[in-house]
Amino acid sequence: MCGIIGYIGSERVVPILMEGLSRLEYRGYDSAGIATLQDGELFRLRQVGKVRDLACALQDDDSDATIGIGHTRWATHGAPTRENAHPHLDCSGDIALIHNGIIENYLVLRDELLEAGHTFRSQTDTEVLAHLIEHYFDGDLLAAVTAAVRRAEGAFALAVLCSRTPDRLVAARRGSPLVVGHSSTGHFIASDIPALLGKANSVVFLADDELAELTRDTVRFIDCDGVELHPPSHRVSADQVSIQKGGYRHFMLKEIHEQDRSIGETVREKMCHEGEDVTQSPFFSVCKRIAPFNHIYLIACGTAYHASLTAEYMWERILNMPIQSMIASEFRMRAAHLSEKSLVIAVSQSGETIDTLMALRRAKSAGAQVIALVNNEQSTIDREADVSVYTHAGIEIGVAATKTFTAQIAALGLLGLHLGLDHLSQADIQAEFGRLALLPGRINESLQKEDDIRTIAEGLHHARDVLFLARGELYPIALEGALKLKEISYIHAEGYPAGEMKHGPIALIDEKTPVVFLLSRGIAFEKVLSNMEEVRARNGQIIAVTDAPDDPAVKRLANAIIPVPNVEGISRPILFTIPLQLLAYHAAVWRGTDVDQPRNLAKTVTVE
Ligand code: M6R
Repeated sequence: MCGIIGYIGSERVVPILMEGLSRLEYRGYDSAGIATLQDGELFRLRQVGKVRDLACALQDDDSDATIGIGHTRWATHGAPTRENAHPHLDCSGDIALIHNGIIENYLVLRDELLEAGHTFRSQTDTEVLAHLIEHYFDGDLLAAVTAAVRRAEGAFALAVLCSRTPDRLVAARRGSPLVVGHSSTGHFIASDIPALLGKANSVVFLADDELAELTRDTVRFIDCDGVELHPPSHRVSADQVSIQKGGYRHFMLKEIHEQDRSIGETVREKMCHEGEDVTQSPFFSVCKRIAPFNHIYLIACGTAYHASLTAEYMWERILNMPIQSMIASEFRMRAAHLSEKSLVIAVSQSGETIDTLMALRRAKSAGAQVIALVNNEQSTIDREADVSVYTHAGIEIGVAATKTFTAQIAALGLLGLHLGLDHLSQADIQAEFGRLALLPGRINESLQKEDDIRTIAEGLHHARDVLFLARGELYPIALEGALKLKEISYIHAEGYPAGEMKHGPIALIDEKTPVVFLLSRGIAFEKVLSNMEEVRARNGQIIAVTDAPDDPAVKRLANAIIPVPNVEGISRPILFTIPLQLLAYHAAVWRGTDVDQPRNLAKTVTVE
């Protein structure tokens, strides 16, 4: 939540900040602001709304400033107003600060600072940091920021400028992500690497309780005790294609259409070639690093949780042990029985979701072995896990997760297969590999149905409520279908196990309630048909997503049918997902919502 960017160097800073902010906008977009320094003068501009509103306000800007910071906000404390937008200033107006995270002890600090005579102008938790730095400032900005972050509790990634030290930018991190980038013209700070693509050629990931002091020529790293650090630097790949829409109207649509490639990339390194033994794959050597365990927890949030739940259903068939997927924020509330025999798998696209990170830390401190399954390499979850498994879906910009979800299912499916090798025959494994090799082509086949799905979405987009029903391993896909629809179209949607419908949700059904059934020949086909009969008997509108589109009963019961290729194994939940993503996308487009940046959401949730 919230994106931060900063630069010091020889180039004009405003265009750099604005480009960085537009790339970070997926992290939060209710207000935005920048602060720059030129000739000892601090200039600040903040605007409610999107980054483009700030850009409009800056259209006549011709400043030659070469140092500055920028922020795009996802409000936590205080409404999205100009007063609450970042950067925040101290009383003197010399210090400007941007922040991502939450300062949990801000009320205590605020009272203390009020008593010392400071004046507050916003309702944010962030503003206390600006005043705290002012309180400690005696000419050394790094020392003042260090002293302030030692007093702060909670999560932060922050960057600070001061007109009294005009050639210095100081950044600090605890909990929220922050990278320091380098180029031939200067140095950057940013919430993530995509903000710096095409700008920085290498980056350093700040760890918790680390600070960086950037000048035009140097970057210095210290910890909160002032000890000098020398963190490793990583090259940034030049791939900028993923951060462009490539002719599609929205990133989400582009990312839906990229799934043949993202799945192909994700499974390639995890399978062996035909005729080879599975133990010859590079992925097998990754899995060999996992020590013996006797139960598994999968921890994740949102869409990643739905991928975890899909894995739970898939793995139960091959692994002879208890497996439980849990919402990360709830995992921490539960008395999970953790020991060195526990295998905990943290599933996260960003690798920065704070609830998942905190659950991971809890598991580690209880002695459990932790695997990260992430898309974002070098993210905090990746770095803190014992073993990492990657989805290679590429950067995902749309706030609604699509290609990373199907890549998670593919990666989890193959991980389960490797963990369960002792229970599987070579023939089963080769059959699964064979299906996965064909999956990109089958995804393309499913994408060909887009025009029909757009028409079905038109009929759905006035609905107030939509139910998504399925059984077995398609139940998590029903949950994901409902989440996608509500996230981007704002239509109320619920995913439910089809067999559970009669225990409550059936009360919602009338002629105005569309019900999307996921119906597979391989999963309780007859029973789901009976559930369709129950909906039909109450005049519900049925959309059947099915691998049995020609079945006479399906044809009789459904008002609309979306055919899905009939394939078993890991491919099945993935192939059932594609039409639901398209359905949600087109319903949202019919409703005219902001598909890539739906209201109230942020791509990466770094606050608890
Ligand atoms: O980066 P993560 O996979 O950890 O994110 C988890 C959720 O915040 C995320 O999946 C969220 O639910 C998306 N908005 C789903 O579209």
